[in-house]
Amino acid sequence: MDRIKTFIVGAFAGIAGFLLAALLGLPGGTATAESSKAKAAAIEDGRGLFNNNCSHCHGENAAAEDSFYNLPQLLSDQSDAFFYKTVIDGIDDKGMPPWKGVLERREMAHILAFLRGLEKNQGLATGTRKSK
Ligand code: HEC
Repeated sequence: MDRIKTFIVGAFAGIAGFLLAALLGLPGGTATAESSKAKAAAIEDGRGLFNNNCSHCHGENAAAEDSFYNLPQLLSDQSDAFFYKTVIDGIDDKGMPPWKGVLERREMAHILAFLRGLEKNQGLATGTRKSK
């Protein structure tokens, strides 16, 4: 009798464990799909912000033919920190305007996500330099 009880309890534990794993697995999978969707949305937002604010100097979709303005090329060996610093403060002696108080940090992050995506598509190293 005890053996049967043990067997039944064991079987239930097994089924419960399986269901629990299935339940826990489900939100995990959804979260991954959600985050790649969120990333794609951030990149599209960044493209829009870029074409509204930056494209008249750096080219539509950041595709400036003049390498002086081509951000995927310029940024490929620069850190994210360099990007934020440059965008916030501008480069006074070169004519790059400061965006402090104009763009929010989140908007800058979306522009950066858009630019890093282009770097990757063009086979450039992305953000390889860690500080500057
Ligand atoms: C009025 C023209 C102009 C606008 C508008 C402009 N930039 Fe620039 N930007 C420049 C110039 C000029 C440079 C210096 C280019 C160089 O050193 O080769 C520069 C440099 C940069 C750099 C540094 C690149 C490097 O690695 O040296 C970044 C990053 C950058 N711009 C991002 C942006 C972003 C993002 C926007 C829009 C929010 C923007 N710029 C809008 C003119 C502009």
